[in-house]
Amino acid sequence: KRQIIIDCDPGLDDAVALLVAFAASDMMDVVGITTVAGNVPAPLTLRNARIIRELAGKGREIPVCGGAPVPLLRDPVTAEDFHGTTGLGGIPFPKPRVRASRANAVNFLVRTLRAAKGFPMTLVVTGPMTNVALALTIAPDIREGLKEIVVMGGADTEGGNITPHAEFNIFADPHAAQAVFQSGIPMRVLNLDVTHQMLTSDEQVDRVRALGSPVAIRAADLLAASNQLEEQGKGRKAPLHDPSTILALLRPDLFEGPMATVSVELQAGERFGRTVPDYRQDGHIRWYNKVDADAVFSEMLGQLARYGE
Ligand code: BDR
Ligand code: CA
Repeated sequence: KRQIIIDCDPGLDDAVALLVAFAASDMMDVVGITTVAGNVPAPLTLRNARIIRELAGKGREIPVCGGAPVPLLRDPVTAEDFHGTTGLGGIPFPKPRVRASRANAVNFLVRTLRAAKGFPMTLVVTGPMTNVALALTIAPDIREGLKEIVVMGGADTEGGNITPHAEFNIFADPHAAQAVFQSGIPMRVLNLDVTHQMLTSDEQVDRVRALGSPVAIRAADLLAASNQLEEQGKGRKAPLHDPSTILALLRPDLFEGPMATVSVELQAGERFGRTVPDYRQDGHIRWYNKVDADAVFSEMLGQLARYGE
């Protein structure tokens, strides 16, 4: 079974990704959640991760550690327009009761990955890569504890979502992303070229809601809030960005894409934060660009159906 750490900035779609990962406990153990500033400031992403952990009934099993409150070099950017001021679309959740770990996210990553050398773990990143870049900087040896890093971020042919060139997670900390892409660690990238092929329809939201369990109903609320904000901002349904990382781990057969090396545009200007894949067979990064979107949704539905069983 895969051991995974999820580094995230919840975020409506991060929250759904967490719910899918917890559900798939026969395929993956979530050994910890680390949070980072991104969609909303760091205190809120930490709080939201605690909320979702408790919603899934995992309050005491899985540590949640708060991480970097600001990006490495650039000024902070947030995405309240797409996640609401709380980061969870204003959906009312009970106050989380189980505390966050005392460990900082970066220290947790270093300690946990160092201990994982004989049986490397998977790191899933669904927010800006600040924590990961910091961990790799202070402890480069943690790569030996990493099987692969699966990230949501970037875009090539699709162009950006926060600027015409840049995708949010990369734009929010492009220097961190550059450090992680250039680390040589095997990666898979769920980028906009593929997530824009997975827009959630109203009918799909209804199917999640019809599962009927309290968790499934909350998942439907999260997807519906995402759709509503995306419709306001972009005039279309919300892509299944962050859940696609977990779904690609569960069903790699549903995703396709070439190998590449990837760099990030760091020069000030209109292309700032753009990912630039160089497609080459000897690249260490799989750049997904094709997906069987209906089958991915069915997989997600099947996982969410396990709540309340
Ligand atoms: C990414 O940006 C965030 O707003 C989402 O949570 C997702 O991780 C999509 O560009
Ligand atoms: Ca995210």
